Amino acid sequence: MDAFRIVGGHPLRGSVRISGSKNAALPILFSSLLGGSFSLSNIPCLRDVKTTLLLLEQLGIRISVAEETPGLRDPSPGSDSSWSDRLEISEGETSSFEAPYDLVRTMRASVLCLGPLLARRKKARVSLPGGCLIGARPIDMHLKAFERMGATITIHHGYIDAETDGLEGCEISLPYPTVTGTENIMMAAVLAKGKTTVTNAAEEPEIVDLADFLVARGARITGAGSSTIRIEGVDRLDPVHFSVMFDRIEAGTFLVGAALLGDEVTIREVNPAPLSSILDVLMAMGAEAESRPGQITMSAIRNPRGVSIRTLPYPGFPTDMQAQILPLMAIAKGPSTVVETVFENRFTHVMEMNRMGANIEIHGSQAMVRGGSRLEGAAVMASDLRASAGLVLAGLIAEGETEVRRVYHIDRGYEAIEKKLEALGARIKRIQEELP
Ligand code: EPU
Repeated sequence: MDAFRIVGGHPLRGSVRISGSKNAALPILFSSLLGGSFSLSNIPCLRDVKTTLLLLEQLGIRISVAEETPGLRDPSPGSDSSWSDRLEISEGETSSFEAPYDLVRTMRASVLCLGPLLARRKKARVSLPGGCLIGARPIDMHLKAFERMGATITIHHGYIDAETDGLEGCEISLPYPTVTGTENIMMAAVLAKGKTTVTNAAEEPEIVDLADFLVARGARITGAGSSTIRIEGVDRLDPVHFSVMFDRIEAGTFLVGAALLGDEVTIREVNPAPLSSILDVLMAMGAEAESRPGQITMSAIRNPRGVSIRTLPYPGFPTDMQAQILPLMAIAKGPSTVVETVFENRFTHVMEMNRMGANIEIHGSQAMVRGGSRLEGAAVMASDLRASAGLVLAGLIAEGETEVRRVYHIDRGYEAIEKKLEALGARIKRIQEELP
């Protein structure tokens, strides 16, 4: 298994290109099950993207690497030479409709095939995703919505079997603004008969990107990015070329890196608007950011101040950035608190950070960070994607050597993070974990 060896305390300097968004690319790729053809660029080279492509191929989608466009992608560190971020995608011959356990268990987002399969093939068999380390993560809201749209759903032997004679538009009021739930419903409604209205919809920028893509293909969607989304079904979707939005969580992770150790770090190919809740928290801790079109520059905060934050659905502070902000809170002057409201068990990184010298207590859904700690390098274990990123940032600021183990989690959602950090001046190497 791979691990990262980090020698902390080295300043970060220079610029880094932020990759395409994982959480926008995945639903857009799954929407290929709605039929037709299209091409995409700015697809990040990630394990979750590769898992999605594998699943889509099993479901009869044809995927090929589009002709390289010179200059489209700079050869900056972090790019995988065998990867092209341009893909051409079209519906193939098979009409398979099963997402098997072996793929779904490695990536919960596989559930995003349910809506488009039901809409286009009228049938779907998808392994029920289990709970995961960060929470139980049921998908009851997705399933109830499909039932309201006219699907029959049964669960047997760990699989969801869904069938319909044809989905029909209806009014769906979500009890919670679920992100993939909103995306799944939106994709199903695009080919359903009549109008669908989703209230209390999630407002994440990745939902807007999916809607923009579908609208460019001829779908009729209004209101994405607000809490009410209206979709009027169409018969088919048109070909299009679309470039996926930047990854705001990767951008936020590099901004925290800059706030910890930056000597003028610029993140490129970003747009500040979707980052505002992250920037607000960093500013409240003392950061100064300079925004120019497509880029943001930030340096280390001299004397970071403690803050209190609460993770919330967009536009609130993202749960996906909670682990990364903790090392900054750990060294800040004065106490900080984090209330995690989205997932019930998303503090597994805290024990590992405490082993590095942080002083963080967990009380239910609240983390109380004492502040003023000096972090020291240690061997630590990554337990999920964002937790791993938090531990990498802790390693960068810690004194001495840190080994972050099980970094396969981070490869799910960060494109070659160690190469990008190394290019900025960090001492970080991917190594083979030594097994006892
Ligand atoms: N929930 C239910 N029932 C449902 C759906 C959700 O109870 O039917 C609960 C969940 O258990 C959770 C809360 O609602 O407590 C929010 O879940 P949501 O459905 O919004 O999360 P998700 O769609 O499964 C996406 C991202 C996550 C991100 C969350 C919250 C993708 C592929 N995943 O997950 O990203 O944390 O929204 O913003 O978009 C990550 O990238 O590391 C990641 C975990």
